Amino acid sequence: GNNNKVILVSNRGSYIFREENSGRKREKAVSGLVSALEPVVQNFGGTWLAWGGRVAEGSKVKGEMIGVPANEPLYWFQEILLTEKEIEKYYLGFSNSCLWPLCHCFLEKVVVRKDYWDSYRNVNQKYAQVIGGFMRSGDLIWVHDFHLALVPEMVRRAHGKANIAFFWHVPFPPPEIFSTLPWAADILRGLLGADCIAFHSADYRNNFLRCVEKILHLPVNWELGMVKGDNRNITVSFAPIGIDWNKFREMASRAEILAQASEIRGRVEADFIFLGVDRLDYTKGILERLLAFETFLEKFPQYRGRVALLQVAVPSRSGVKAYENLKHRVEEAVGRINGRYSINWRGPVLYRYGALSSSELVAHYLAADIALVTPLRDGLNLVAKEFIAAKTDRRGVLVLSAYAGAAQQLREALLVNPYYPEEMADVFRQAVEMPVSEQVYRMELLRKVVQQQDVYWWSHQVLKTLPSKWGKLAATS
Ligand code: UDP
Ligand code: G6P
Repeated sequence: GNNNKVILVSNRGSYIFREENSGRKREKAVSGLVSALEPVVQNFGGTWLAWGGRVAEGSKVKGEMIGVPANEPLYWFQEILLTEKEIEKYYLGFSNSCLWPLCHCFLEKVVVRKDYWDSYRNVNQKYAQVIGGFMRSGDLIWVHDFHLALVPEMVRRAHGKANIAFFWHVPFPPPEIFSTLPWAADILRGLLGADCIAFHSADYRNNFLRCVEKILHLPVNWELGMVKGDNRNITVSFAPIGIDWNKFREMASRAEILAQASEIRGRVEADFIFLGVDRLDYTKGILERLLAFETFLEKFPQYRGRVALLQVAVPSRSGVKAYENLKHRVEEAVGRINGRYSINWRGPVLYRYGALSSSELVAHYLAADIALVTPLRDGLNLVAKEFIAAKTDRRGVLVLSAYAGAAQQLREALLVNPYYPEEMADVFRQAVEMPVSEQVYRMELLRKVVQQQDVYWWSHQVLKTLPSKWGKLAATS
């Protein structure tokens, strides 16, 4: 028996709360991290410590404790509050204007500021304190992503024997890039407070280990994937995150969602529907994709009037300059392409600034012939896997950037270089003209991988490297 609890810790939680006159309103947060962690925390029946999007009044750190669902909770959400200043400096500042572009190798977008770093350290300390107040000996603390890299060491210092796992959800850059951060060593030391650290791919893990060697000068055992600390060994592994396969497969066969899909097809009136679904983020390559689509229409006039690109852009991090600039440039590109190629007052690009619910999303996956997942760089990308899971009839084509972590796993997709519009245009044509037999052949192989390496598989892969009973538990269940 195991009476200890699992405590998940991340910046973003499953819900964003808002104060309204009629009371508290909540909406689902849109992110790969949330899509993956929610089924896992439900499975464990654990507690999730995360920011709920609300601003702290005064110095209050803990917000509400909410059961999800409220009537018969499958897990608990302990809300963390951030002050206005912390949102500006820790979240929009250090996390999203410094670490995010750094990890995605966009050096020219990195903002280095000491006040951002100070706020980051303070918020990490706040989290560590809340964790300390929550945990009992034997519990598992599983910390997530780049916002909270210092938490493992802070918790370790206060509670020597704590069981701590860490998963890094974005790419990890090579030392040539990571070392430009003045606090690179602090981040690495912070992470090494965990018992195990995991990444999506071997490349990211190797980059991390090279940073440990070059920046911290600590010995690495490459064969075992282990870092030797003073009195502990830290396991460093990789496992690509997955989706809740059964949930998507089930949704994809629901009658009302199938009906919604054919309604979309009817409304779009194109022989071939391309689909892009992304947070509006410069790492996602939306602008480059639009340019490639324009090149496709230019190069292959036979497809003008016969194809449509549906692009969903989910509002994201709108307090950051780089994100606001991108919004304008994407809107401009959509307008230009539609101005150039509209026929009978209908343009080939259908653009939506806003999020879809998961059932609407599945209807769109079903309606689309071709998914364009073409980020310039992406930790993994779950949209690619969800599209595959929704394609129960094995038709459809996935066009996937070689620079998405998912490309390491999804070898039967059409892999592209998002920086090369002419080549992407050729691949779009290949996708449109792909014989059904080849679509089915590729899709079957892709579906095997996505089904086998689902989100539960992922959580076992990560946790089985833990030295405590938690490792044995994960390895045997
Ligand atoms: N998503 C959603 N509604 C939308 C767009 C996306 O619910 O309108 C979800 C999608 O199902 C996926 C996640 O958001 O699980 C995006 O994850 P991904 O790994 O592709 O990218 P991230 O946003 O984490 O960078
Ligand atoms: C990426 C990050 C997540 C983050 C998500 C959405 O997937 O890895 O940690 O939650 O983007 O971004 P946001 O800033 O809205 O949390």
